[in-house]
Amino acid sequence: MSALKLCLPDSITPEQFLSDYWQKKPLLIKQGLPQLIGMFEPDDILGLALDEDATARLLTQSATKQADEPQWQLRKSPLAEADFDNLPDQWTVLVQNLEQWSPELAQLWQALDFIPQWQRDDIMVSYAPKGGSVGKHYDDYDVFLAQGYGQRRWQLGKLCDEQTEFVADEPIRLFDDMGEIIFDEILEPGDVLYVPPKLSHFGLAQDDCLTFSFGCRRPNLMQVIDSLADVATNDSALFVPMLLPQASQSSGELQADSIDAITTQLSALLQSERGADIIRQAVCEVVSKRQYDVLVPEETMNTDEMITALADGATLQADYSNRLLYNQTNEGITLYANGQRLDGLDETATALLVRLSNGAHLTLDDMEGIDPDEVMEWLENGWIWIDYAE
Ligand code: SIN
Ligand code: CO
Repeated sequence: MSALKLCLPDSITPEQFLSDYWQKKPLLIKQGLPQLIGMFEPDDILGLALDEDATARLLTQSATKQADEPQWQLRKSPLAEADFDNLPDQWTVLVQNLEQWSPELAQLWQALDFIPQWQRDDIMVSYAPKGGSVGKHYDDYDVFLAQGYGQRRWQLGKLCDEQTEFVADEPIRLFDDMGEIIFDEILEPGDVLYVPPKLSHFGLAQDDCLTFSFGCRRPNLMQVIDSLADVATNDSALFVPMLLPQASQSSGELQADSIDAITTQLSALLQSERGADIIRQAVCEVVSKRQYDVLVPEETMNTDEMITALADGATLQADYSNRLLYNQTNEGITLYANGQRLDGLDETATALLVRLSNGAHLTLDDMEGIDPDEVMEWLENGWIWIDYAE
């Protein structure tokens, strides 16, 4: 089992964080992720931003605002080297979904294990030279801003809402007035700042600076309803005839009472055991889906090579650029990967995948009773990766 120290101050327990800070107020965690120090240099990120598979944005800011012209310019990937020619002094490049490129970095999510895995969205990195920023703004999600290289000054201000007005005609959401500044500190490599949704923030690079945003998400009911429809479409048991609408004096009218009766019929279905199964499946499919395309790894080894690597001390771990999770009821455990239910797993496979989804590092000894070719398939699907470092 992995033993990454949790990214919290020693004086705050996960329970205290969840009740007092999560979604409510910011928290500075000095040296919350010391593992980040030295993991990446600015050139690594600049190189990655040019990769054709990267989701990247280049944001530049002119020194002064000209009338009728936006002060900020945004270019989206694919980015080319020429995009980086003749940049103004102030610019930032952002790369999303770093999990895809670095399982070692993705493992750092384990330091945030007090946040359920399904609420993780992605790790984004920003590179900016001195003076670079993405402006004053707020986000709709919780984020842990982790300093990886250089220093960034963070200021936090007012709590915003949907009415907060953004500067007009700029390609990104920005505002001028952060209200009263409630936090103003320079973060060093390894430091982490938790920022709840809608809290205004402004991060200014003090020198060449890499900041890693561990972003969270909250899937919404629209997604669940959408997924319910998908699940229901494939379930012939749900071809339940709708109650007949009541006859009306006017042949063109569908009476409100008829709609009420059908609503009652539908809620009874959703509240039945069958309905609970469908809802469970729909929710699990939504929350196990990643918003980014999952890159299936190129084949790098065969089953024998995997076993040899494990015999030499490597471990198998969940690959956080995929999403593996499970749900447990009286009937047993159901596993999901990347929005799909995994059917046909036996008890041993289920138990191993459950442990992997909970962050376990599995060794060769843990493979007893499982067909190694099946584990190889999990590797090929990208659900897990092999870490040679241990
Ligand atoms: C940054 O890293 O510069 C921006 C991250 C954020 O504000 O969410
Ligand atoms: Co932000």
